Amino acid sequence: MTGNTIQLDKNGNLKHFLTTEGLSQSLLQKILDHAESFASVGERAVKKVPLLRGKTIANLFFEPSTRTRTTFELAAKRLSADILNLNIATSATSKGETLSDTLHTLEAMHCDMFVVRHANSGAAHYIATQVAPHISVINAGDGRHAHPTQAMLDMFTIRRHKPDFSKLRVAIVGDILHSRVARSEIHALNTLGVLETRIIAPHTLIPKDVENLGVQVYHDMDQGLDGVDVVMMLRLQKERMTGALLPSEYEYFQRYGLTSKRLEKANPDAIVMHPGPINRGVEIDSDVADGERSVILQQVSHGIAVRMAVMAMTMGRNPENAGATE
Ligand code: CP
Repeated sequence: MTGNTIQLDKNGNLKHFLTTEGLSQSLLQKILDHAESFASVGERAVKKVPLLRGKTIANLFFEPSTRTRTTFELAAKRLSADILNLNIATSATSKGETLSDTLHTLEAMHCDMFVVRHANSGAAHYIATQVAPHISVINAGDGRHAHPTQAMLDMFTIRRHKPDFSKLRVAIVGDILHSRVARSEIHALNTLGVLETRIIAPHTLIPKDVENLGVQVYHDMDQGLDGVDVVMMLRLQKERMTGALLPSEYEYFQRYGLTSKRLEKANPDAIVMHPGPINRGVEIDSDVADGERSVILQQVSHGIAVRMAVMAMTMGRNPENAGATE
């Protein structure tokens, strides 16, 4: 859907961040390295650097969000940018204003960046083709297509625990069919050179062309978890399901829910991840979600540093020039 002709400027730098697909390993590593240098900002007494002072960022969330919207807002504030949170429910969109007209209205307010979540796959890409040349667009999740900053904060979390991607077996478990997170994760994991990416799901929740993504497919949870280093659980995306794809949530949990017993199949130091929001007792047991191997809340914290890195890079700012705290 998205070529790098639109994501990168003529010098190969990140202009928009729409998908992890097709980006080079060095660019993904650069995002992670820059995020590492931003991570300490949140631990300072004054949690601010002046890197995007004077820039105006609009958060445009046409779908609900807790983690992504708030961490983008915090990331913008920590970079000293001004941020607008457009409330779509009370905006002119509810009176029939088109997406293009909303964008052009915000452009007239001299915005420099749009952070976009939308139910339609391709929405962020479309917006990137419509905006003025100085504006950057960051995809905060479009339909079932991509969620690239989620993938990168997950890569950051993995790298903090297990620095050598080339030794890792990663299992992604659950609703692959409807998951924009799974697609972005698979592209990022492959580019960063993991040993093996497995997906574990019932037949009804796996896309038809999944083998083309370079993953090993399992339908049995115990077999799929055997010897993995990272277990990444996914939410059942009921809002995107048409028709009955599962007998019941109870039965799904019996076959694909992550319990302490099931986790014994993975390596003893395996970490447990989930992009959130989690559905306890549907895809993951509370014992595991809150257990010592869970890094779910670390994922949330890392979202701020990774989003700071992506925002700075798309605005052409280098974190090494961030300067002193405000
Ligand atoms: N992981 C994620 O995208 O969560 P939110 O829907 O809360 O933003």
